[in-house]
Amino acid sequence: MTSCFDVQSSLRNEKPGAGGQTRATRSPGTVRPRTAAEWVACFRANAARCRAIPWERGAGVTPADLAAIARSLQAWQLGETSDGRHLRAAAARYADQVGDPDYLPAVDLFIREEQRHGRLLGRFLDLAGAGRLTADWGDRLFRAARYCFTDMEVWTTPVVMVETLALVYYNAIRRATRSAVLSAICAQILADEVPHIRFQCERLALLLRRRPRFALRLTRLGQRACFLVIVALVWAGHRRALRAGGYSWRRYWRAAWDRMNAAWRLMDPRRYAWTP
Ligand SMILES: [Fe+2]
Ligand SMILES: [Fe+2]
Repeated sequence: MTSCFDVQSSLRNEKPGAGGQTRATRSPGTVRPRTAAEWVACFRANAARCRAIPWERGAGVTPADLAAIARSLQAWQLGETSDGRHLRAAAARYADQVGDPDYLPAVDLFIREEQRHGRLLGRFLDLAGAGRLTADWGDRLFRAARYCFTDMEVWTTPVVMVETLALVYYNAIRRATRSAVLSAICAQILADEVPHIRFQCERLALLLRRRPRFALRLTRLGQRACFLVIVALVWAGHRRALRAGGYSWRRYWRAAWDRMNAAWRLMDPRRYAWTP
């Protein structure tokens, strides 16, 4: 089985494809998507190799550093701590419909990784004395928009978009802090998010694979409009932290679209060799 991490460069670098050809840039129809059972193995292997977080060093942030990122981190921490109940229910229905019993365990492991991110960030916020949020407008909006639908495609698409922006966001936080603890947490989250995006994109490619070309173009158009809104909302809610990490609006905009374009390549059904 190929590694979970072989598309990292194309998703993480702001210039996709830098560093040579990756699976994300290979010719159409040549990539075999992972099965749900392979994703289960992949998530299990990832859970077994968590990075060490140097908690003994304390939070290591000055009040000024913390002021720039605390409110924003609290909101992301809340977003990462969802119990995944609705996603799990949608995944269970979908797995049943398509006869893919391994999909639900894969989603369970995915949810567990997200919760691990929430726990790590929560522990850091506690250590820094910043406290945690129990409600946030962005989190409420994101959940409300998704809970209106039960379709797996509608569930998965905004997740990919938020995870794509998470790559930009946690990179900004890593640059904004001198805390060894927070830096290690960001490195762990960034390493986890890349396979998460691929997991969701491959599933979307599968869901879209029989859609006619014209309908696919319309789908992409709708996704671009949706991403535009999410990019603007994340900037509205987190610009102070993003700026602290060196992201002006222009840089943030470019990084967001570069990464999302890489994700769109991963969710293009034409790049995969489907078994009939
Ligand atoms: Fe996460
Ligand atoms: Fe994720």
